[in-house]
Amino acid sequence: MSFDTLIVNGTVVTATDTSRADVAISGGRVVALGESLPRENCKQIFDAKGKYVLPGGIDVHTHLDMPFGGTRSADDFETGTRAAAFGGTTTLIDFAIQYKGQTLRTAFDDWMSKAESKAITDYGFHCIITDLPDAQMEEMPQLIRDGVSSFKLFMAYPGVFMLDDASIFRAMRTASKHGGMICMHAENGGAIDVIVRQALAEGKTAPKYHALTRPTTAEAEATSRAIALAEMAGSPVYIVHLSCNDALEKVREARDRGLPVYAETCPQYLYLSLEDMEKPGFESAKYVFTPPLREKWHQEKLWSGLKNDHLQVVSTDHCPFCFKEQKELGKDDFTKIPNGGPGIEHRMSLVFSGGVASGKFSVNRFVELVSTTPAKTFGLYPRKGTVAVGSDADLVIFDPNREHTISVKTHHMRVDYSMFEGIRVKGMPDVVFSRGRVLVEGDKFNGRPGSGQFIKRATYAGV
Ligand code: URP
Ligand code: ZN
Ligand code: ZN
Repeated sequence: MSFDTLIVNGTVVTATDTSRADVAISGGRVVALGESLPRENCKQIFDAKGKYVLPGGIDVHTHLDMPFGGTRSADDFETGTRAAAFGGTTTLIDFAIQYKGQTLRTAFDDWMSKAESKAITDYGFHCIITDLPDAQMEEMPQLIRDGVSSFKLFMAYPGVFMLDDASIFRAMRTASKHGGMICMHAENGGAIDVIVRQALAEGKTAPKYHALTRPTTAEAEATSRAIALAEMAGSPVYIVHLSCNDALEKVREARDRGLPVYAETCPQYLYLSLEDMEKPGFESAKYVFTPPLREKWHQEKLWSGLKNDHLQVVSTDHCPFCFKEQKELGKDDFTKIPNGGPGIEHRMSLVFSGGVASGKFSVNRFVELVSTTPAKTFGLYPRKGTVAVGSDADLVIFDPNREHTISVKTHHMRVDYSMFEGIRVKGMPDVVFSRGRVLVEGDKFNGRPGSGQFIKRATYAGV
């Protein structure tokens, strides 16, 4: 018996188990797990003594090469997946946008052409639906069969992305009948629009008004409405980028009633707060994304939600815009600042550091939040999201003791600032494998654009 690659002496961590085992890789898959596996004729051996061997991270919420607010997100599928790999993320699910009047298939084809020759890690797509006449509704089952088994709908951004309740309800019914999942951007866009127009009329144009015009109640109301619509439709629902305790309470109540309701939060809501919106001048434009930053006390509630499974996933909502020339589009009017922030590279370290290293939850729960539950919820499991014989060898040798200060000076994202500048994390990826290929080893990058594969995802089967 000989293997392509062996990882020896490491501690293998899955969502349920922690064990001392060697991991053998051949043909891009894990082929054996066990103590003292034979090393003869093995092409390469990695020593993971004192380190964890984790399933590769799965980021189910990214926006690469996305047109938005008169510009385009700064990372494409090459730079974005490269940065993801440096951070230990080996699969991502990006959002393919169907613009009004387009077919859903056009959205899928457009995003495939952005990704296929560039992606370094594996990837899949959700489809953002902005317009749902009967013809597009009829396309949903075929898209699900083609592996795009989830759809993002917006209750915010009227006139751009927002769908009315009837369309949302119909989409939920169709998705659930065919094993699809609805991901919901839950904010009351109508009410927010009124508050925004009033702020502008009063001359309140600075970036902080982006946050102050989007109250937590608008998020809680929409979250509650999304859950009610899903309950009536008999469908699961996944609330994206949940930012505050008010919305979390709605999710917790629904889950306590046994409804198939899931929610993610993102590192920016765990580490940053409204205080960052008080930075001088135009600086706070760096933190203009939606939902916005909240008062600091929400952070502890979100961490506790992650620990207690009221929240199931941490994704990034990576949607980078450079400060120069992109964020600056809104210098005189916060509504013109492109919404979004960069985070694809630091999710694993930020969640490990704030969650595990600081003693809030176990390393198994960490794996569950950043890899296993994303895989299970979005039809990637067990091919991805665990370390098991037969699974893809998407693996991370992770050093729980290595410390790092996050900075624009050292990050790999194609953006001119870091949302997490100066934050010191404990826990960093050392070696990152995608289907057995070494993408990153320390500071060295070995990936190749185009080597990432589109992953046809299975239908939702309950988690
Ligand atoms: O501000 C954000 N979150 N930009 C990306 C689009 C979205 O709503 O997820
Ligand atoms: Zn959104
Ligand atoms: Zn997003």
